[in-house]
Amino acid sequence: MKNNKLIIVITVSILVGLAFTNCSPQLEESVSIIPKPSKISSKDGTFRINQNTLILISDSTDLSFRTANYFNDVLNNAVGYKLEIRDKKSPNDSAIILEYIYSSKLGQEGYLFSVNNNGVRISGDYVGQFYGIQSLLQLLPPEIYSKKVHENLELTIPFVEIEDVPRFEWRGMHLDVCRHYFPVEFIKKYIDYLAMHKMNTFHWHLTEDQGWRIEIKKYPKLSEVSAYRNETIIGHHNTNPQKFDKKKYGGIYTQDQIREVVQYASERFITVVPEIELPGHSVAALTAYPELSCTGGPFDVRTSWGISNEIYCAGNEKTFKFLENVLSEVVELFPSNYIHIGGDEAPKDRWQDCDKCQERIKKEGLHDEHELQSYFITRIEKFLNSKGKQIIGWDEILEGGLAPNAAVMSWRGDEGGIEAAKSKHKVVMSPTTHCYFDHYQTENTESEPLAIGGFLPLEKVYSFNPVPSELTSEEGEYIIGAQGNVWTEYMPTSNQVEYMAFPRMSAMSEVVWTEDYNKTFADFQNRMKKHYKRLDAIGTNYYRLVD
Ligand code: ACM
Ligand code: ZN
Repeated sequence: MKNNKLIIVITVSILVGLAFTNCSPQLEESVSIIPKPSKISSKDGTFRINQNTLILISDSTDLSFRTANYFNDVLNNAVGYKLEIRDKKSPNDSAIILEYIYSSKLGQEGYLFSVNNNGVRISGDYVGQFYGIQSLLQLLPPEIYSKKVHENLELTIPFVEIEDVPRFEWRGMHLDVCRHYFPVEFIKKYIDYLAMHKMNTFHWHLTEDQGWRIEIKKYPKLSEVSAYRNETIIGHHNTNPQKFDKKKYGGIYTQDQIREVVQYASERFITVVPEIELPGHSVAALTAYPELSCTGGPFDVRTSWGISNEIYCAGNEKTFKFLENVLSEVVELFPSNYIHIGGDEAPKDRWQDCDKCQERIKKEGLHDEHELQSYFITRIEKFLNSKGKQIIGWDEILEGGLAPNAAVMSWRGDEGGIEAAKSKHKVVMSPTTHCYFDHYQTENTESEPLAIGGFLPLEKVYSFNPVPSELTSEEGEYIIGAQGNVWTEYMPTSNQVEYMAFPRMSAMSEVVWTEDYNKTFADFQNRMKKHYKRLDAIGTNYYRLVD
């Protein structure tokens, strides 16, 4: 099996290699699409968009219109005009054509892209059309990403033919908005970065020890109390003695704001997966509702980082009522099939000392506190399944037995992902070794803004293969994708989030979109030269190795 796979990979690599020898130097210079398309070839010649170019849509559904309008908005920002959108064309019109086609080869997200004297033709399902537009933007000058009008910008596109299909269905980026809070405008900007990189999943980490960020109508104290901490630690968590800034800090996203973000993402074919942490990382909620803990509190929303022993009581029915009520509002806000329920870093000390928790262990015939965690997660899973949702959780949810339908997000390494895939559970890979963008990007940390620690350079992110070699090809099918994680303990501003996310997000986009045999770091770095100019046009604060 493995040998066959190897032969196929080598054969395909040779074929792709041959295809690439057809690329002219002009193509290499002008085409720098990230993530790299499956196949691309060029001919001599260029097409130029001007104010008379039409956008033509082959069937006038809302979805193609939306993509046409999206392109027009980008264009309008950069050159100060929009193109006319029509559903019919006269013979001499030049146009950007969005053509609906469906083939099993392209699926929903693949697309075909072709440029000649008459214009640009993008063919695919609606999502594929949107990704075709992303490729079109990257074939235009980098200034197309600017929000400032460039009146004389020449919108020239080289004659290329592209066939492009993503490798994975879950192409994600995570953002922790609890350790630090970021305004809705930045959340939208972050979503735009995902769209630009053909990523389709925004994992929004909304609840934590240090702050609760999602308005829940039934529990107003989550907004009034849990959303704020009294102060924040200054400097690194490991310093001794710890110092604090004595400034109240926090914020909440109202349900209207959440709906606005979800809508904005859906217009970019991005699914927002909310994370509501349980049973750990819940001190902010317990501060407002201490009766949901084993000890009864009192607690304070945490002001420093790390793991807390204070978690929801698993023996108390009120805990489940609370979480079910919270999740009932959450599922109404997020159309996502998956709800992330956390599950990581939940010390069992309190459960060991709690009569109610011990009583539950006895009554349910459980062996230990790990099985109690499994009971907890399985109960939440049943509830969410009854609402038509699936759960995904960090790999600790494997301990004590995995809930029957749960997907696993493997973060402590590959092992959790391997175990879950072998037992036929879906897996998203996000190991600290390759996917934690809170780590330093250089070993020369003295010249860098303070970070949590670790070292994750661009090349290592790029080298990541989400399918572990330990899996057979059949087991490998359970790996549905990967994502980069941005934990924000040491990122107090959106500017710092950008600095840590870029350019690593660009590398991750290629990890999840482009087949392994079709990519090399040297070629990626070459394409990044133009991509940095795009980020410059956006005004992104990115890290760049001075070479
Ligand atoms: C995690 O990084 N605690 C999932
Ligand atoms: Zn308890």
